[in-house]
Amino acid sequence: MCGIVAYVGSRSAPSILMDGLKRLEYRGYDSSGIAVLDSDKAYVARAVGKVAALEQKVAADRPEGWTGIAHTRWATHGKPTEANAHPHADCAGRLLVVHNGIIENYQTLKRRLIAQGHTFRSETDTEVLAHLIERAYAGDLPAAVQRALQEVEGTFGIAVLHLAHPRQIVMARRGSPIVLGVGEGETLAASDVAALAQHTDQVVYLEDNEVATLSPGDFSITTLANQAVTRRATTIDFGRAAAERGDFPHFMLKEIFEQPEALENALRGRLNHAEAVAKLGGLEAVMDRLEQARHLIIVSCGTSYYAGLYARYVFETLTDLTVETELASEFRYRKLNLRQNTVVLAISQSGETADTLAALREAKRKGALTLGLVNVVGSSIARETHGGIYCHAGMEIGVASTKSFTSQLTLLALMALLLGRARDLSYEEGAAILRGLEKIPDQMREVLKQSPAIRQLAEKYSTAEHFLYIGRKYQYPIALEGALKLKEIAYIHAEAYAAGEMKHGPIALIDPSFPTLALVPEDPSYEKMVSNIQEIRARDGKIVAVTTEGNSKLRPMVDDTIFIPRNHEVLTPLLTVVPLQLFAYHCAVLRGCDVDQPRNLAKSVTVE
Ligand code: G6P
Repeated sequence: MCGIVAYVGSRSAPSILMDGLKRLEYRGYDSSGIAVLDSDKAYVARAVGKVAALEQKVAADRPEGWTGIAHTRWATHGKPTEANAHPHADCAGRLLVVHNGIIENYQTLKRRLIAQGHTFRSETDTEVLAHLIERAYAGDLPAAVQRALQEVEGTFGIAVLHLAHPRQIVMARRGSPIVLGVGEGETLAASDVAALAQHTDQVVYLEDNEVATLSPGDFSITTLANQAVTRRATTIDFGRAAAERGDFPHFMLKEIFEQPEALENALRGRLNHAEAVAKLGGLEAVMDRLEQARHLIIVSCGTSYYAGLYARYVFETLTDLTVETELASEFRYRKLNLRQNTVVLAISQSGETADTLAALREAKRKGALTLGLVNVVGSSIARETHGGIYCHAGMEIGVASTKSFTSQLTLLALMALLLGRARDLSYEEGAAILRGLEKIPDQMREVLKQSPAIRQLAEKYSTAEHFLYIGRKYQYPIALEGALKLKEIAYIHAEAYAAGEMKHGPIALIDPSFPTLALVPEDPSYEKMVSNIQEIRARDGKIVAVTTEGNSKLRPMVDDTIFIPRNHEVLTPLLTVVPLQLFAYHCAVLRGCDVDQPRNLAKSVTVE
């Protein structure tokens, strides 16, 4: 979604801002813009399409300046045109604003401002902010921002420049993340720490309804109501190299191949073999309440939702909890009957997804114990929950989530093990899970070696316009995730079904042009899956099967087979998902799609 970068210091602002925008490209956007202050004038440029288009303009104009803001816009109000791209200016052209989020009462505010003589130049909701701040301004920019934002309903992360204050940037947030980066004689800010990591590891997260005033090497924070806030910088914990692609053609492929290492990081220090249990430090403080819990509700979106569906099976197998997995966007509008012993777990890579955050806040308000399974350290969900677990998957840049998903599955299995062992799961059953988990990274490495063979399969099948993905029990969420990957990056229509549901509808679609990807490891559902494969075969459907090494019985029934190593039934999804990620990736490349920045999608969805 939209991205913000701001810089005030002694280096050339345009190059730092453009570099920051490129590091935010992965979030998804459709236009971009920049504003740089140079003594008494502002340089402003905007462009539709990729950041490269803006970069060309900036390279031709060669602006100079040491204070500036920049933005990538993911269109909500008004098409992705140059006029609608940020920054937006006030009537006098002295004040410039970039904004993430949605101003819900913008129509009312706009009507009022027009009646008061303000002239609008765009169709955006953002532009009202420029005029509101202009109207509130009486020489003190942070005070004007505070006053203007009192009138606003909705969500915002903003950065504001004013010609009268050439060494100052004012930032504010409500519901849309803003993080400050403090360096030697320079201060940066961004909507995503990825844009700061090259410059500093000292960061400060802004909380909702706070306003920060940035000057070179310094900052101050107040609330919207002008209460002073004291907050120290904290050190971010991932390497600066994380955002580099290295020798991989795409971040997504790099991240697929990073999975064994990401899992090793997720497991490090968290296995207690002596007691066959997991050690999850972020849950220790709430362990008493967790031991009393009877009911677990998991809320999440997108790929994280599928991790939640997986969790339902794992928790039900390893614990005696009743588990519900719900899309956060639905959960937040349900009438919740939460009990004293209900736990709500939010799963989110970014920790900023608007629906997940809202669902969590609603659950917290109703008295539930709230937990987070989050990848981005210090993100809103991580900060607002009673307890939680970090994925430690490292920065994920590809819009289509891969290593975060497998880290989520790993930690969900560990969390279920922890709660199971606190109940009636036996030592032997617990130890079997731990042994299986330790094997996974190397087994994944084996699966990754099949990438060239999977590319050949993609060559054979990537012209198909429709796919069916099927699986049962633990493999059902993986079928959903595999189909999502194909839709997201290769723009191929793919449906995923619990295999038992096939005969209630999707089987009507099967013909020789409609291939099926069947997840058939040798587990207790195997024979049932074989029956489903036979049903497809009888209708001339093509089948690619993912099954366990050494299983040659499927060969005569299917067109192609991908083998995965043998492991515990609960953990096999960590292996079956890898060929599906690779298949989607190779199909997307063969079809000429933009793998890391798929059309219309955003990495972090911070609007409802
Ligand atoms: C977006 C991303 C997906 C992601 C979903 C949930 O749609 O494109 O890859 O699964 O948001 O994001 P979260 O950060 O909450 O896991």
